Amino acid sequence: MEISFPTLALMSILTIAVLRSAWSVLRWVWLKPKELERCLREQGFRGNSYRIFFGDLKESSRMINEATSKPMSFTNDITPRVSPFPFQTLKNYGKNSFTWIGPTPRVHVMDTEQLKDIFSKHTTFQKPQGNPLTKLLVTGLASYEAEKWAKHRKIINPAFHLEKLKSFLPAIHQSCNDMICKWVSSITKEGSIELDVWPYLQNLASDVISRTAFGSSFEEGRLIFELQREQAELTMKAIQTVYIPGWRYLPTKMNRRMKEIHNKIQASLKDLINKREKETKAGEARNDDLLGILIESNIREIQEHGNDKNIGMNLKDVIEECKLFYFAGQETTSVLLVWTMVSLSKYPYWQARAREEVLEVFGKDNKPDFEGLNHLKVVTMILYEVLRLYPPVVVLTRRIHEVTKLGTLSLPAGVQISLPTILIHHDHELWGDDADEFKPERFSDGVLEATKGKLSFFPFGWGPRICIGQNFAMIEAKVALSMVLQRFSFELSPSYAHAPLTVITLQPRSLTLRISLSQSHRLAAHSMSLCPSCSLSLLLNLRCLDFGYYGLVFRFSMLN
Ligand code: HEM
Repeated sequence: MEISFPTLALMSILTIAVLRSAWSVLRWVWLKPKELERCLREQGFRGNSYRIFFGDLKESSRMINEATSKPMSFTNDITPRVSPFPFQTLKNYGKNSFTWIGPTPRVHVMDTEQLKDIFSKHTTFQKPQGNPLTKLLVTGLASYEAEKWAKHRKIINPAFHLEKLKSFLPAIHQSCNDMICKWVSSITKEGSIELDVWPYLQNLASDVISRTAFGSSFEEGRLIFELQREQAELTMKAIQTVYIPGWRYLPTKMNRRMKEIHNKIQASLKDLINKREKETKAGEARNDDLLGILIESNIREIQEHGNDKNIGMNLKDVIEECKLFYFAGQETTSVLLVWTMVSLSKYPYWQARAREEVLEVFGKDNKPDFEGLNHLKVVTMILYEVLRLYPPVVVLTRRIHEVTKLGTLSLPAGVQISLPTILIHHDHELWGDDADEFKPERFSDGVLEATKGKLSFFPFGWGPRICIGQNFAMIEAKVALSMVLQRFSFELSPSYAHAPLTVITLQPRSLTLRISLSQSHRLAAHSMSLCPSCSLSLLLNLRCLDFGYYGLVFRFSMLN
């Protein structure tokens, strides 16, 4: 049989294409990883031998399942449970070790000078791109690099200046009030109740971010954020396995739902932002929320550069930043609060000291104000110690694109780098033999003194890419904790099971606390059988602006 020239040419092209693809796959799953492994071993790093495609992923997820299948005894020594595979790797291979995230080796950096180096050189040590499906969940400042990152950070920064944060206090008070009212309304005649506070604290943080991000449009914002939460759950499922290139284009049930949610969120945020931009340009908007400040700062940036539209952020950029505020600020702050309540239940001495301080600074009824928050020394020490033992983000990662010097080492292009917050925060060499004990007094003279100037405490990251919302989070945590301490005492219920688990952030599985109203509150609340602000506003269709349980001081305003 004769083969025509065009057929021969087509067959050759196809053969070349197939061979090229096969070569790329072979390089991706075998040749490149083996080359990197050789390079790392030559540098003195140790770790498991590469296993094709999955690397250490199967073993790692088996260890996580095993560790989290049952609760642990109540100790703060949580690293073997929360980060079992890196913990075991360090134990087996020492501090210069690596693990395999599929075909990519990840080097663990445990040296505090090297950590400083990595955090400061943010253009060399960039964030890994990760699974492309995560882009549907959120991009924004946290995932950008180089000029785009610098431009966005400059525009967003003003929204987090202390003066602006001060103006968010009423929104934070309102959200805390709402939560406390719900607790009071469920309290029994004996003045106590057992409840799972975790969903309440999640709701609190999401309420705070909706109000501060969207001000008067916070109900619309909250709906968007609910969709965002579903998207986060789907993303978690998607990233638990190695990503196969092109997978996201397949019309699987999950891919379709993720795209549908993405489109809905984009459309709602677009409407909201467009409306606000028009109002801002017409001078009608009250730009005292995050969105307003962002839009204002963006307009200023564009005007300062001769109205060059390429300078500022476009609509899509603003949408992504709004999504990021919610994503980065909600879960992290609620887990900080939850572990603080767990720790203060476990260590009643510190609960009593914190309450003593809160009552001294704000009294029993006053809402926490900005000046007072700066005087909370014991509360700050406690929050730092909780952030050390239970960091909401347990590990940070970076990647390098070219051969890169790190101290005396030379890392090959293509490796990932792990900055293992939780391992560093619990490291006995850095924190002493009592590293796993809850001792807020470590921070009595500040972070610098507690760490002896070493980078051994970085719950919010470090360097130029440090968390932009850290002051926001600390203010929110201090206000919420103060308002709870003013009204309640709490202890762990006998049914509480200590079971920390990483679901993007470090979370409790569920959390039953016994909450008791302190004596003076009980009288007031029970004479009304419901928390005064909730019951009265329901009955009279009034909105409570201010209330005090004991003095029964109320200020109300009519709802429009
Ligand atoms: C306890 C609460 C919080 C914790 C523990 C936390 C932790 C972190 C950490 C560790 C990073 C650095 C990530 C890295 O270097 O790879 C980060 C970045 C970031 N956080 Fe937070 N965060 C908290 C609250 C917030 C809040 C309330 C917001 C905003 C409303 C926020 C917004 C951001 C943003 C936008 C970035 C990216 C900054 C950049 O890359 O320039 N965070 N956060």
